[in-house]
Amino acid sequence: MSNRTEKPLSLAIEQRRASPSFNGAPVPDEDLKRILDAGLHAPSSYNLQPWRFVVVRNPEQRRRLRAASFNQPKVEEASVVIVACGDIDGWRNGDLDESLRMGREGGMPENYAEQARTVIANYLSNLPNPTAWLFKQVMLAFTSMMLMAEVLGYDTAPMEGFEQGKVHEVLKLPLSYQVAALLAVGYRNGEDKFYGGRFSMSQTVFDGEYGKPLRL
Ligand SMILES: Cc1cc2nc3c(=O)[nH]c(=O)nc-3n(C[C@H](O)[C@H](O)[C@H](O)COP(=O)(O)O)c2cc1C
Repeated sequence: MSNRTEKPLSLAIEQRRASPSFNGAPVPDEDLKRILDAGLHAPSSYNLQPWRFVVVRNPEQRRRLRAASFNQPKVEEASVVIVACGDIDGWRNGDLDESLRMGREGGMPENYAEQARTVIANYLSNLPNPTAWLFKQVMLAFTSMMLMAEVLGYDTAPMEGFEQGKVHEVLKLPLSYQVAALLAVGYRNGEDKFYGGRFSMSQTVFDGEYGKPLRL
């Protein structure tokens, strides 16, 4: 465990920028593990944890991933790129059973556990938009990883600029996987990006119903 000071989460949230460029400095395994663990702690629908992550560190593999990502240089520059995926069939292939097993172990009420399998399977079989469901879960884990990296003093860059089919090919992903986003982690090269600003609360937050401004 290093003795470096961690950034408070509030500061990490405030200061985080999507870094445009990285200097290639390595991320030690111990930190990478904490970043990944933070994501795996995220909440998910019925605790089904449909996320899957491919950690790309090998330079040749990062070069190939860059080619699948509209040639974005940071994919190759950052020493670690976390490819955040979801497995839409995970729940059918053992995740639901495993989640209920862990739940029972942790104290899930027995009357809930008995009904859960049918209720959950029915819910998931009838999702109007399975990809939306999947990415909702994946991006929560992704965000936890991004913020943990910032807390540990790293710079990050989230990316959706990639070609699904090409990333599948480079990473040899199964067909049931869908790639939600890429996260570059490392140290930025030079100055951080400008602050692009954020819309005000009066535009984006309502009090109780649409259109009513929230006054705090
Ligand atoms: C889901 C997502 C996908 C993004 N994809 C890309 C991308 O492919 N390439 C890129 O340069 N920036 C990408 N960005 C970064 C955004 O442009 C950036 O977050 C936004 O401009 C706000 O800037 P800030 O994060 O520095 O505050 C992405 C951000 C998010 C959240």
